Amino acid sequence: MPAVADLAQTGMHHAQGGWVEFDSVTFRYPDQPKPAVRDVSLVAAPGRLVLVTGSSGAGKSTLTQLLLRFHDPEDGSIRLDGTDIRNLTLRRLRSSVTLMLQETMLFDGTIRDNIAYGDPTATDERIAEAARIADAAGFIEALPQGYDTIVGQGGGNLSGGQRQRLAIARALLRNTPVLVLDEPTTGLDAVAARKVIAPLRRLMAGRTTILISHDLHLAHDADEILVVDQGRIVQRGTHARLAAVGGKYAELWQAQSAGVVEPVSREREPAVQVGRPLTLPFAEPSLWRPAPAQP
Ligand SMILES: Nc1ncnc2c1ncn2[C@@H]1O[C@H](COP(=O)(O)OP(=O)(O)OP(=O)(O)O)[C@@H](O)[C@H]1O
Ligand SMILES: [Mg+2]
Repeated sequence: MPAVADLAQTGMHHAQGGWVEFDSVTFRYPDQPKPAVRDVSLVAAPGRLVLVTGSSGAGKSTLTQLLLRFHDPEDGSIRLDGTDIRNLTLRRLRSSVTLMLQETMLFDGTIRDNIAYGDPTATDERIAEAARIADAAGFIEALPQGYDTIVGQGGGNLSGGQRQRLAIARALLRNTPVLVLDEPTTGLDAVAARKVIAPLRRLMAGRTTILISHDLHLAHDADEILVVDQGRIVQRGTHARLAAVGGKYAELWQAQSAGVVEPVSREREPAVQVGRPLTLPFAEPSLWRPAPAQP
């Protein structure tokens, strides 16, 4: 049975809405001479994937900080579903967005509790379902204590890739319309990174996703790629267009496909074939309509 049918049964549909807009946003950290973000405008529509890439220090993570209101822009505005985020309560804003980082924050409890952190009301059945969709169920069930396994301080008893798959399961339960992924595969070796790609795609399908990444595993899936340099968006477009026109993106792509940055080999990973974005059945947007209200 395709994964999407299972998702429909468990009610793990994406929430509605999720328009994210940055409108000429400029921001400078206190005491810094130069703005970290300059005149950035972007639109991430519901269900779309925007990939933000660029050199270290370019200002990518700062965009995340601004979206979650850890800081407010000096100039310009950020809107969620048309409302300036300064007019939303922090609770409302942050319950609409899931942030997944390079290092997942796991606490020293059981695997079950770490996944359920995404939705404390989740039943064991839904936790197991989320783990299955996140490709985590296999390794969890192979552990002698299964879901009762203690993950250790910071998830130290698990590998980096296992921690990321738990984070994906947690995010599936959290089920927000907007996802922000900041370097979700960075720091993983090629094999572990590859294992995270398919569950990441399942998580992203049907949600507004802003994916910040140096590595371009998912470049073909992106509806739009933004290349940030010294706080500004210097290039924007699809992978095909940007790789063809030359410039900063073509350089980044060249570096990766030449093996300078460890790429996912196309031969070994058919799921990220060139020119065939969102090939997996659960990525079909029409299948991700919200469930009709139960009578
Ligand atoms: N809390 C902070 N206080 C002051 N300056 C900061 C702070 N966080 C980041 N910066 C500076 O802002 C700029 C942008 O940083 P940011 O973390 O957004 O870059 P990035 O593109 O995410 O880099 P990386 O790819 O290394 O994660 C950098 O010059 C950085 O030194
Ligand atoms: Mg960063």
